[in-house]
Amino acid sequence: MQIKKNYSIQPYNTFGIAARASRFAAFGDVQTLAALLRDNQHEHKIILGGGSNILFTNDFAGLILKNNLKGIELLRADDQYYYLKVAAGEPWHPFVQYCVDHGYAGLENLSLIPGLAGASPMQNIGAYGVEIKDVFYQLEAMRISDQTLHTFSREDCQFGYRESIFKTELKGKYIILNVTYRLLKKPILHLEYGAIREELEKAGIAVNTTTPTIKEVSEAVIRIRRSKLPDPKQIGNAGSFFKNPSIPIAQFEKLKMEHPTLPGYPLTGIGSNEQIKVAAGWLIEACGWKGYRDGDAGVHARQALVLVNYGHATGAEIYALSERIINSVENKFGIALEREVNII
Ligand code: FAD
Ligand code: EPU
Repeated sequence: MQIKKNYSIQPYNTFGIAARASRFAAFGDVQTLAALLRDNQHEHKIILGGGSNILFTNDFAGLILKNNLKGIELLRADDQYYYLKVAAGEPWHPFVQYCVDHGYAGLENLSLIPGLAGASPMQNIGAYGVEIKDVFYQLEAMRISDQTLHTFSREDCQFGYRESIFKTELKGKYIILNVTYRLLKKPILHLEYGAIREELEKAGIAVNTTTPTIKEVSEAVIRIRRSKLPDPKQIGNAGSFFKNPSIPIAQFEKLKMEHPTLPGYPLTGIGSNEQIKVAAGWLIEACGWKGYRDGDAGVHARQALVLVNYGHATGAEIYALSERIINSVENKFGIALEREVNII
């Protein structure tokens, strides 16, 4: 296995930050990964997928392990489900397309999310009314400390909104090797996000009288995303930089009196009945940040939740901008924004 030194990681993060790693190694099989972990036990390490949810605020003094594990396998099928195992290094969107093309239903709303399959459980990726936890079956991961293999069920993963145990209690302790999804034979469509219905209608699919196919839903999601989110190939970004915050109902109602257009959604699930999720993009826009630019660090002109690198911004500059945004939202609305992107 080859370990590269003082290696540029600019092509490996969608923010396009020109950082360097003191050492960098790619692995395409589990044995190589185990050897890399064993031989570099005391070195600071991170695992990198597609680099689409990460901000390097500095050069990385340690070893970056780039995941190239490949393979998609249909494990079994029963009356209702297909059990499909995907290796962590498979790119996410082509995997979703593979499922859509084979009639494996459940991931279509998650079309066009960048990154690799192995990172999908990390923050329980979600979009347009679906999160991976809805179709997740289990995953297999290697414990970094002793290279043993462990299986995690859905309950073990402790999924929440943009959360899992791998971002909290077990942060930096495991490397996800593969994920098994339990996908439906008979689709259950999630069209409650208004924009999806609108987009389908625009394409001539009358949602009230016909049932769209999962391919049509996937294509509608792709069109919506292309119209809203910047393509990292054209402008550096990592999607939503912050999470949408949840606030108590009383605070929401008070804010709504002063700001009637503030979007809010009641949360469902255990222990959430007193909370409303509010749109961070709206809060940031209301503080005047939308389209803001300082040097090459900026806030996207069409989506205030997305911070962008116009070319030569450093990770530290993007981070400093996020700090200013957090402070201004806190001062104006009394709401503390939390970063979604992993800060290194
Ligand atoms: P990376 O950025 O490489 O890694 C993210 C974190 O996971 C890091 O901490 C890394 O160390 C860790 N990690 C990666 N792989 C593994 C592994 N195998 N085992 C253990 N740890 C690992 N996200 C959404 O949820 N919904 C969206 O709609 C969405 N839209 C986006 C749109 C754009 C334009 C962009 C740029 C990003 C968007 N994202 C979205 C964020 C991002 O695409 C997802 O979080 C994606 O799952 C990250 O995958 P990745 O392989 O790039 O992870
Ligand atoms: N809004 C504004 N101004 C803005 C941006 C948004 O007022 O600049 C308002 C919109 O008008 C809308 C509301 O905020 O009323 C929500 O906006 P949108 O539907 O664009 O979604 P979002 O909350 O900004 C979330 C996810 C996205 C996901 C979309 C679709 C988070 C942090 N972000 O964005 O996920 O794709 O919904 O489901 O939950 C990501 O995680 O990286 C990501 C892109």
